[in-house]
Amino acid sequence: MKLLILNGPNLNLLGIREPEIYGKQTYNDLCKLIEAHAEKLCVEVEIRQTNHEGVLVDWIQEAQGSFDGIVLNPAAYTHTSIALLDALLAVGVPTVEVHISDPMKRESFRQISYLREACVKTISGHGLQGYLEAMDYLKEQERYS
Ligand code: DQA
Repeated sequence: MKLLILNGPNLNLLGIREPEIYGKQTYNDLCKLIEAHAEKLCVEVEIRQTNHEGVLVDWIQEAQGSFDGIVLNPAAYTHTSIALLDALLAVGVPTVEVHISDPMKRESFRQISYLREACVKTISGHGLQGYLEAMDYLKEQERYS
């Protein structure tokens, strides 16, 4: 099984960026956690981050036929991007939406996710652990498909 882990804008600043919300672990720490978990699950992973919406659209399109699942933290594009929603609907690759914080408990503009309806699951507020839970979920789903 091959999973694509996608991170949107400002997630490269984990550890520096609002640590009271997103924690003190860095983006590099996140990548190491994901890689160690992938080894444990015997899945292949590719981890990417970009600050650009169109790049995320390109990567989601690319996933079709190349990856069995996507773990996506779209960051602020969660609350704005119909382009990402359309990309997910177009490719139909099972995608888990992940948020480190719980946007539902934050400002009202964060309480809308345009992407949720195109995702098989949403995991919010579990910190970096949420990425690992998303991987577990996709791996579990594979067993029943
Ligand atoms: C986030 C939540 C978003 O509202 C925010 O714009 C982010 C990160 C999270 O992981 O909690 O950049 O997706």
